[in-house]
Amino acid sequence: MERLLIARGNEDVELISNKINQHAVITGATGTGKTVTLKVLCEYFSDLGVPTILSDVKGDLSNISVAGKMNEKLQERLSELKVDDFQFKSYPVCLWDVYGEMGLSLRVSVSEFGPILLSQILELNDTQASILNIVFKVADQKGLLILDIKDLRSMLNYLKENRQQYSDEYGNITVQSISAILRKLMYLEDMGADRFFGEPSLSIQDLMRKDENGRGIVNIISAAKLIDNKNMYSMFLLWLLSELFETLPEVGNPEIPKLVFFFDEAHLLFDNQNKMIMEKIEKVVRLIRSKGVGIFFVTQNPLDIPDQISAQIGNRIVHQLRAFSPKELKNVQKIYETFRNDENLNIKDEITSLRTGEALFSLLDENGASQSAKKALVLPPHSSLEPLSQEQIKSIIDNSSLKEKYAQTIDRESAYEILQKKIGNEIKEEQPKKPTKEEKSELEEFATKTFNSVFGSFTRQIGREIARGLFGSIKKNIKF
Ligand SMILES: Nc1ncnc2c1ncn2[C@@H]1O[C@H](COP(=O)(O)OP(=O)(O)OP(=O)(O)O)[C@@H](O)[C@H]1O
Ligand SMILES: [Mg+2]
Repeated sequence: MERLLIARGNEDVELISNKINQHAVITGATGTGKTVTLKVLCEYFSDLGVPTILSDVKGDLSNISVAGKMNEKLQERLSELKVDDFQFKSYPVCLWDVYGEMGLSLRVSVSEFGPILLSQILELNDTQASILNIVFKVADQKGLLILDIKDLRSMLNYLKENRQQYSDEYGNITVQSISAILRKLMYLEDMGADRFFGEPSLSIQDLMRKDENGRGIVNIISAAKLIDNKNMYSMFLLWLLSELFETLPEVGNPEIPKLVFFFDEAHLLFDNQNKMIMEKIEKVVRLIRSKGVGIFFVTQNPLDIPDQISAQIGNRIVHQLRAFSPKELKNVQKIYETFRNDENLNIKDEITSLRTGEALFSLLDENGASQSAKKALVLPPHSSLEPLSQEQIKSIIDNSSLKEKYAQTIDRESAYEILQKKIGNEIKEEQPKKPTKEEKSELEEFATKTFNSVFGSFTRQIGREIARGLFGSIKKNIKF
């Protein structure tokens, strides 16, 4: 067990390494020090050999890859903190980007992404969502891979043509609903979001790397553009989280976590979510702990975190909050209720008068109990606070050992092609015929081949219907 000194006030504030998987929340008004606190934590985790995943909404995280420089303000902070052996350092990073511009292309096949989160992204109504579900069922049963949007479109068209046959099996399938889904897909493509769907799919292991010195790699996912589509941003991060949840093995309560996931702008995850999704999020947050994953939610308003999630969070860091509007006053009240109060600290007054990079802390102690609130000044980060230039970013991407792996797009023979070739003839006929025995075995053989090439590294039973996890993504058994 390690004690990580993150801030100093009347007492030292230490985060205990085997409590990191009890999750945390970092809140505070804009410009009060949330991102810097996040970086300080991330640096510690990297030094401990713990890889991290961060969504970078403002583009102010990649400078963790460059050592910081002394200036007057930092010197003052260090003097106040009575730290005299401070050394600037850089950290190993891997940059990712759904759009493939500010990092390695981060992609996933539509098949792997699954129908539940895709329905949320497309904002489908219940009828449309159930049709999308049928599309995945049919593809899963036939062993057809839906790699990208083009494949999905051809599957939808196939279902449209053969709706009679499938309506018998699954209930009413209308042309209107399918057309509505197709229109929404077009909108997604117009926003460029189709770049996210395709191959090569991200291997979760690539987010869990250490460098040659055993330091955890900081995976920064550029989200400046992604956040324009709020649905896409939150569902994408939810997919990542569910992938981790589905693939990582149980480890109980490790002395040092396996991975830490920072969820910036966390309110987007909880905004307007339906009950089913909220229950699943709550389940993932609760159960991912024993897989050694800590989730750190970063958000401006503590009220953004719903109660059932808040109940799962052990460590709390609150930077300055304003308390003018009724909502802001409610925020302060919420902190007052969730913190264990120290008699010598007037939380209500303190929260509104904290300095930049100063915070109230309520962290778990060795026994897992909440410590009473402490006010303290956060240490400075060892890495730079200056933004990186475009050239620096490009050079990080170019030097990544994973560059080759994620550089090219693969258009493997997938639903689109196979439907064109094998079922294409079928579609033209008035009455779709059932595939003959030979066609069926041909399809199965194709499925086996495709699965072997896609999931070659996974242990899975071929030929069976695909098993899907909590959020409808494909279940994989990865050996770590
Ligand atoms: N621990 C710290 N050590 C040194 N400087 C700090 C620290 N915390 C904050 N600062 C200074 O305050 C500035 C603003 O902090 P930061 O970017 O973390 O705010 P934020 O809460 O993330 O704001 P936003 O909500 O707008 O993203 C930093 O650029 C830095 O100069
Ligand atoms: Mg910030």
